[in-house]
This record gives sequence, structure tokens and C-alpha cells, in this order.
Amino acid sequence: MKTRALILAAGEGTRMRSQLSKVFHEVAGIPILFRVCQAVGPLSEKTAVVLGKNFNQSKVKIHALYPDVSLFHQNERLGTGHAASCALPFYKNFDGYVLVLPGDLPLLRTESLSQFLKQAQTEEVDCAILAFKPENPSGYGRIVSFGNTFVSIVEEKDASPEEKNIPLVNGGVYVFRARHLVEFIHSIGNHNVQNEYYLTDLPAILAEKGFNIRVFTAENPDDFLGVNNRAQLAAADQTAVNRKKHDLMLSGVTILNPESVRIEEAVEIEPDTCIYGPAHILGDTKIQSGCVIQAGTVIQDTTIGENCQIKPYSVITESTISANCSVGPMAHLRPGTVLKASVKVGNFVETKKATLHQGVKASHLSYLGDTEIGEESNIGAGTITCNYDGEKKHHTEIGRHVFIGSDSQLVAPVTIGENSYVGAGSTITRNVPPCSLAISRARQTIIRDWPKKKGKKCSQS
Ligand code: UD1
Ligand code: CA
Repeated sequence: MKTRALILAAGEGTRMRSQLSKVFHEVAGIPILFRVCQAVGPLSEKTAVVLGKNFNQSKVKIHALYPDVSLFHQNERLGTGHAASCALPFYKNFDGYVLVLPGDLPLLRTESLSQFLKQAQTEEVDCAILAFKPENPSGYGRIVSFGNTFVSIVEEKDASPEEKNIPLVNGGVYVFRARHLVEFIHSIGNHNVQNEYYLTDLPAILAEKGFNIRVFTAENPDDFLGVNNRAQLAAADQTAVNRKKHDLMLSGVTILNPESVRIEEAVEIEPDTCIYGPAHILGDTKIQSGCVIQAGTVIQDTTIGENCQIKPYSVITESTISANCSVGPMAHLRPGTVLKASVKVGNFVETKKATLHQGVKASHLSYLGDTEIGEESNIGAGTITCNYDGEKKHHTEIGRHVFIGSDSQLVAPVTIGENSYVGAGSTITRNVPPCSLAISRARQTIIRDWPKKKGKKCSQS
């Protein structure tokens, strides 16, 4: 039978105490709602999301990644049953199953949902409820049964003390026949502690009409951890990151001290790369094989080629690093840094919008911003590109095979021609032609016996 997925994501998320809608909080670097979309995608011919406040902003975010998802608006927060009714056009003329699920289950996996769906389809149920036994059931709706027969779902807030002792809870994921949703979604009342229209009342309504309701217990209760507050957000994040690291290790990545390593969901790492904890590897980072990522590094939205060494305490953001580079220790590569093959960026070097061509070395204590540096050039310790005049940023162009002496300032805009030298301690304000030496520092004066003339002690050996 055909299946469509309906994700309910219009809740206020009050318990998050946040300006940001709950389902846009991130787990392992990906908004919770997108994780749900990702999990249901392969199982549904069409997906819809019910949104609440900030509808237009949310729409832009969702459609940027999932342009085919239909969006519905729930104007008032009247409960999950009301939210499902707001998407009526999505299932009205559909002859199939509707998989309804909340937008706040970041650990959902396609396999778990697929198993549930298969069970529902095999038994040709009218309605299936996905249940699980969490370590701590508080906060979840309890599944009330009589023997093997489903009776109802009771929300925590409406539950009697005996009902609160029921260990089996509602995962919030259901399968309904579309036509039953259409016919009975408006039969749900709001006579409960919260005066909300609970979707959880619909299975009991269907059961009373004699329809076939089944409760299936999930094999992986982890997948159904709902995020209602920041403590659950942290727990979900940790599980997601642990799963990610586990998958990477099985695929051939070495991760030592794994408990101190954060690797977000979208990160890709090739086999035979080794990561020493503690480390944070975040966002859309890609690391090819044979790299060593040493302790204390933070890498975000960066691509790193084969066999690179990222030495301790380096921070790298939105950069592109080619094969065989060495970075750090304690280097800071800021957005727009491009290191071509075999570049060395050493300790206390900061780069920003800087392209360092093959074989460039900047080994110590430099600021290289808004610059392009040609092949095999050597940037001496303490070199600064003075790129900012207080109003605008300017570019520094350094040719191939250039040698910049230590403690030089290159005042941009300025060009250093290929095969040229800049003497140590120079302040370069004018362009340097190719094959030249530029030196701009006060000549050294020597005054012999100066201390004696000043009446100071001066013993010579
Ligand atoms: C819900 C279930 C509970 C179940 C739990 C599983 C109800 C009444 N209760 O409780 O039985 O154990 O999920 O995680 O359904 N939403 C709307 N509009 C609303 C209210 C909620 O779209 O008016 C959305 C929320 O954005 C959320 C989802 O529905 O994604 C569930 O709502 P939430 O308030 O988190 O319900 P729980 O209290 O967790
Ligand atoms: Ca919830």
C-alpha cells in the first residue's frame, strides 16, 4: 500500500525555553526536523510538515533542502490532533497509509520506521501505534491495554497513578488509513487536563468503532527519544554523535579517546585517517585518507586532502587544504583559506582569505590575510600582511619563489614580484619588481666605546 508521511512540527516547544522553534534546534549539527525528513524520505511517496509560528521563515529553510515537502500551517497550538487536521488536503483524496510522526524525534532511523511500516502493512491494520519501553517513561503517553487488546493512550498529565506505572509508552509514530483520518480526525475532543485535541485519542476512537488497532514495540527504543527540553537535546546529540563515530570506526577511521571527540552528522572521513581526542570535527567537513588530526583541534566546514597533518590545538574554519599539508600546532585558518599541496603553516600563524600555492612555508607567528602567495615561497617568522587601512581591506600579491625575511610588514595593496627577496624587518609599502631585493629599515650605526663615554662599567674579556 502506498504511504505518505505527515510530520507534526507546529508545537511551541515551550519546554525548550528558546526563541528558536524546537524542531530547528540541532542534533549532531543538523536541525531535528531535517533528521526526521531524512529518515522518512525513502519510505514515503510524499511528505508534509505542519508548521506553527514563523511559518514563512521555516518554509524557506525547509524548501532550501527539501523542495518537494508540502507545508501546512497550524495557526493556533491546539494539540497534535488539531495539527494533523490542519493537513487534511494532504491525505483527503489519498488511498493509502499515512505515517504520522512528530518533528521532535532526532534519532529516528529509516530501518526502524520501515520495520514498523512493514508490520502494519503485513497485518493490514487500520491503525498501528509504535510503542517502546524507555528507561524513564515520564513525560510520554502510556499505552493502556486489556490483555492483548489496545484500549487507549493516556497522556502523562491525565494518567492515574496506576497508569503512570505502565512501562510501555507511545512513541508518537502512527500509521492510519488515510480515509479514517479524513472521517474521524474531527471526532477528537479536548476534554483533558491541557484542553488540547490529542491525536493520541484517535486510536481509541477507531478501536471503539471496531477497527483493527495494533501496537508494535520498537526493537531500538533509542530511536524514539523525544526532545522536549535541553537535557533531552543533549542526550539525543550524544547518541547521534556516538552512532556517527561508531560508523566511522567500522569504516576504517581510527578515533582514539573517542569519548572526547565530537564528529557531526554531515562530516565525511576516509579510512586510515587517525583522530586523536579531544577534537571537534563539525559541519560539512570532509577529510581524505591518511590524515592525522591531533589533539585539541576544531575543524568546521573544511575540506582536507590526503596525508595531511593537523597538529595540536589548530582551529580551521571554511578552508580548503590539499594533500600533504602540515598545519599547526596552534594555527588558525579562518574562512577562505586555501592551502595547495605540500604547504606548511606553522605555529601561531593566522590566515584569512589567503591562497598559499604549492610548497609555501609560513612556519611561525604570521598574519596572512587577503593574500595570494606563489609556489615555494617562504614567509619568515612574524610576517604581517597589513590588509586593513581602517576603512577597507586590501590585497597582497606575492609571486613564486619569494623569500620574505622575518618580522616584515607588507602594507597592502602591494605586490612582491617572483624570485624576489624582502630583507628581515622591512616595512614594504611599494611594489617590489621580480628578481629584486627590497629592504626598508634604518641602517645600523655602531658607536664604539659608547658605554665608557657615558661613564658606565664595561669590562671586556
Ligand atoms: C506526544 C504524545 C505522547 C507521546 C510523545 C512521544 C500527544 C498528545 N502526546 O507527547 O503520547 O508519548 O509525543 O514523543 O500527542 N505539535 C503540533 N501542534 C500542536 C502540538 C504539538 O504540531 O498543537 C507537534 C510538536 O511540534 C511535536 C509533536 O507535535 O513535534 C509532539 O508534540 P509534543 O508537545 O512534543 O508532545 P509530547 O508531550 O512529547
Ligand atoms: Ca515530544
